[in-house]
Amino acid sequence: MQIKENEKAIGVFDSGLGGLTVVKELMKTLPQEEIVYFGDTARVPYGTKSKESIIRFSKENTEELLKHNVKMIVVACNSSSSYALEELKQNYSLPIMGVITPGARKAVQATKNNRIGVIATKATIASQEYTKNINWFNSKVIVFSQACPLFVPLVEEGWFDKKVTFHVAQEYLKDLKKAKIDTLILGCTHYPLLKRTIGQVMGTKVKLIDSAAVVAQEVKDLLFKKGINNPGGRKAQHKFIVSDRPQDFKKIAKTFLGQEIEIRIKE
Ligand code: DGL
Repeated sequence: MQIKENEKAIGVFDSGLGGLTVVKELMKTLPQEEIVYFGDTARVPYGTKSKESIIRFSKENTEELLKHNVKMIVVACNSSSSYALEELKQNYSLPIMGVITPGARKAVQATKNNRIGVIATKATIASQEYTKNINWFNSKVIVFSQACPLFVPLVEEGWFDKKVTFHVAQEYLKDLKKAKIDTLILGCTHYPLLKRTIGQVMGTKVKLIDSAAVVAQEVKDLLFKKGINNPGGRKAQHKFIVSDRPQDFKKIAKTFLGQEIEIRIKE
C-alpha cells in the first residue's frame, strides 16, 4: 500500500544515542509525527574518525532510514553534520537537515559580549563548521573551540553526574573559562546529557546552547512549509533501530525519554 507523503515518518540518525536529545524535542514539538531513529552503535564514536569514514557511514545510515518510508532526514550528529551534510544533500532528493546551523544561529542570538565557546568532538572542531556558521551570522563574534572526546564514552556509559565526569569537564573547560565567553555551544548531540555537570563547571553566567529544541522547531517549519506535516489523528508509533548492543541503548533511552521503547537491530 502506498503511504501518503505526510503520513511518512521523520528519519533521524546519530552515531549512537546522542541523537535522542533531538528525538525528545521532536516528540514534544511534533507529537503527531512518527519518528524512525537509527543509532549506529556498532561504529560509535564518529568524532574520532576521518572525514571519508564519516561520509560513508552517513550515507549508509541514510540508506537504512530510506528503507523505512521517511519523508525527511535529520542528521542528529554534529560530526556527520560537519562533514557529510552537503554530500547527503547532493545525493538524495528528500529534505535533509543538520544540527550545526541551528545551534550557531541560537548562540549568535544569545551572546551579549560576542565571545562564544564551542565544545564538540575532534571531527566537528577540526571541520571548523561552527566557527564558519557563527561568523556567517555575525563576523564580529570570536569563537573559542575545544574538543572533548572523553565526554562521549562517559555519556554512552550513562555516567552523567559522576565525580569523574565532573573532573573531566573541569580539565576540558578550563581554557574556555579563562576566555570570558558568555555562551557555550554543546556542539555534540551527546553533550546535553551532561548539561548539569557542564553548567556546574562553567557557572551560571554562561548560557549553554543545546540545538535540539531549535532543530525541532526548524523541522516543524519545514514540514508545514512543504505541506508534508502529519495532521495526526492517531498515536504516533516510533521505531528505534541500532546496529549493535540494543540492550544498552534501551536502558539509557528509557531513562532519557521517560518511556519504554522497542528496539530492533539493523538487518
Ligand atoms: N553524536 C556525535 C556528535 O554529535 C558524538 C558521538 C560520536 O563521536 O560519534 O558529534
